[in-house]
Amino acid sequence: MSNSRLGFGDDFLWGGAVSAPQIEGGFNEDGRGWSPMDMIEYEPDKEKQQIDLLDFYTTERMNAGKELDNGKFYPKRIGIDFYHRYQEDIALFAEMGFKCFRTSISWSRIFPNGDEETPNEEGLQFYDKVIDELKKYDIEPLITICHGEIPLGLMEKYRGFYDREVVDHFMRYAKVLFERYGDRVKHWITFNEQNGATTVTPLAAGVLKDKVEDMQQAGYQAAHHMFVANSLAIKQCRETIPDAKIGCMIAGFTVYPATCNPNDVFQSLVDTQMENYFYGDVMMRGYYPSYIKRYMAQNGIHIEIQDGDKEILSAYTSDFLALSYYCSSVTSANKEEIELTSGNLMSGGKNPYLKTSEWGWQIDPVGLRYVLNLLYDRYQKPLFIVENGLGYDDKLDSNNEIHDQYRIDYMKQHLLEVNNAINDGVEVIGYTSWGPIDIISMGTNEMTKRYGFIYVDQDNHGRGTKNRIKKDSFYWYKKVIKTNGEDLD
Ligand code: BG6
Repeated sequence: MSNSRLGFGDDFLWGGAVSAPQIEGGFNEDGRGWSPMDMIEYEPDKEKQQIDLLDFYTTERMNAGKELDNGKFYPKRIGIDFYHRYQEDIALFAEMGFKCFRTSISWSRIFPNGDEETPNEEGLQFYDKVIDELKKYDIEPLITICHGEIPLGLMEKYRGFYDREVVDHFMRYAKVLFERYGDRVKHWITFNEQNGATTVTPLAAGVLKDKVEDMQQAGYQAAHHMFVANSLAIKQCRETIPDAKIGCMIAGFTVYPATCNPNDVFQSLVDTQMENYFYGDVMMRGYYPSYIKRYMAQNGIHIEIQDGDKEILSAYTSDFLALSYYCSSVTSANKEEIELTSGNLMSGGKNPYLKTSEWGWQIDPVGLRYVLNLLYDRYQKPLFIVENGLGYDDKLDSNNEIHDQYRIDYMKQHLLEVNNAINDGVEVIGYTSWGPIDIISMGTNEMTKRYGFIYVDQDNHGRGTKNRIKKDSFYWYKKVIKTNGEDLD
């Protein structure tokens, strides 16, 4: 293949990404406390639909989940049993040649209620074992400190990140992680998809709906507290692990105008500011951009910014910007006129030029090149694609095999566009595909929304042997990594 297509650097971090609540299981083992993710029950009547995760974020539903044996099934309590099978799973990642593996730490394994003074040693030991296992195969751990789950105790006693005290609890937790794992973990992400704080506040910022009167106000205040937490974590990380890199993460949204009507084009700029730039601007540039100050003023949103916060935000900006990317959408000046389809975190306008996945997410590889260029032009700092992949209801054939050419096609097209972006001049340091092994879906709570190169024999009700089976894409990705992206066929 010609050199003009060879953009992946020698140190490119190929690998896969998961989150603790979607894989671990072991929800009540070794002193772990409750996570809100434990309380989201499987809803069989919502097959292949995004469930309204936010419906679960009430005190009543959280309390209902605490009653064990209530006859309901909570998939994230069992995950795919990575808690007991991590060695087997990591061996499979190593066989594919992973250079990097992204997972999160379950905060309530380390601080069961979130506000204890000292951490739970058994919880810390689990991640010691996982990290050591990764290092055994020279796989670089990429650790997300908080992936959509703060301890339920902090949501009940406080109002999640809406309350400033939670920043202190987060910092105690982050410091423990840096001190414990800093000798082995050199890549960190503070919060998963932080731009959810203002759009899906209960989920991203841990706010129970009955605890606040105005969720929009709570969302912006929580976002501010998370920005401060992000910067303080950067400061702490640099002091504790000077040779580490610490990034922030957003869900990468590519938003096109529905037409070339200037009003639609302008609306796509506004949506991009609100959904992508706001978070990147604060965490990568270190200050609140003018458009968001205007938006807050016009919408009566008032946030409390303490003395010293602005200085912290500007002094400690992220080393890299991590992003997830799955799909794109269109927007219009007349939003009520566009047809909607579902997507990551929220629905968006339908694009007649694109096909969708079985779950309605619009497949758009060029949109990845587009958003990479957009973000790199703006921040001029390395980008790390830490989630991308195709959710598909894979079926075993009569030989117990899965021929997932559709997944290979999806990933190949996306990687070609990553390569194009690199050739455009964008600095991309790595690519960790989402769910290299089938896991519980975040947005649908199903097992059948499978992203993996490795099939897990488990159904939506948690039944099955949990055996791991390599799909065709397993061998394909192995070859991609081996050739450093040169051979994508
Ligand atoms: C991202 C999340 O929003 O999308 C992941 O960070 C999630 O946790 C992924 O799993 C894919 O979404 P879903 O709903 O298909 O699992």
